[in-house]
Amino acid sequence: MVVLVIGGAGFIGSSLVRELSKEEEVVVYDLLTYAGRMENLQGVKHVLVKGDVASRELHDVVEKYSPHTVINLAAETHVDRSIYSPENFVRTNVLGALNVLEASRRFGFRYVHVSTDEVYGESAQTNRPHSTPPPRTRRARPAQTSWSRLTSEPTPWTPS
Ligand SMILES: NC(=O)c1ccc[n+]([C@@H]2O[C@H](COP(=O)([O-])OP(=O)(O)OC[C@H]3O[C@@H](n4cnc5c(N)ncnc54)[C@H](O)[C@@H]3O)[C@@H](O)[C@H]2O)c1
Repeated sequence: MVVLVIGGAGFIGSSLVRELSKEEEVVVYDLLTYAGRMENLQGVKHVLVKGDVASRELHDVVEKYSPHTVINLAAETHVDRSIYSPENFVRTNVLGALNVLEASRRFGFRYVHVSTDEVYGESAQTNRPHSTPPPRTRRARPAQTSWSRLTSEPTPWTPS
């Protein structure tokens, strides 16, 4: 059974791949930007495909490996960089997420989108209703937040 992890060479993605690879076949799809490091995946069993989440090539990779689940962690995450190169943020965080959604409609895999509390709100443990808008903070990520506009209201995260 294959899991495709987009952005799997990043900080969180690589830890996720390390754990998943103990039980699943993992294909990592990553553009290997300044944030993606192959060293993060040293000694971890996986197949690496270099590619852009916003590219149509993603669909070819899904077709080739037929993952049952696609987990998307590909993102431009550094707020300061959004000031100097906003195009990369819109391409990766918005058009990339849309591209995965389109692929999920076409191929029917389970799509898990990893993002930030700016998008999902805080966890149920805080007792704050999910419908309450998250506070505007200096670290707000407008490009990523717009991902939630592409989808219906996400289910609040509940720890097991
Ligand atoms: N790091 C944190 O503390 C933290 C906390 C909460 C939420 N998150 C969220 O988790 C997700 C991953 O965060 P992270 O810290 O691992 O990020 P990161 O910046 O370390 O990694 C991002 C990965 O995405 C890849 N990538 C970037 N653009 C791409 C593109 N166009 N196509 C394919 N791959 C691309 C990079 O090469 C890198 O491997 C993000 O959505 C982030 O907002 C992170």
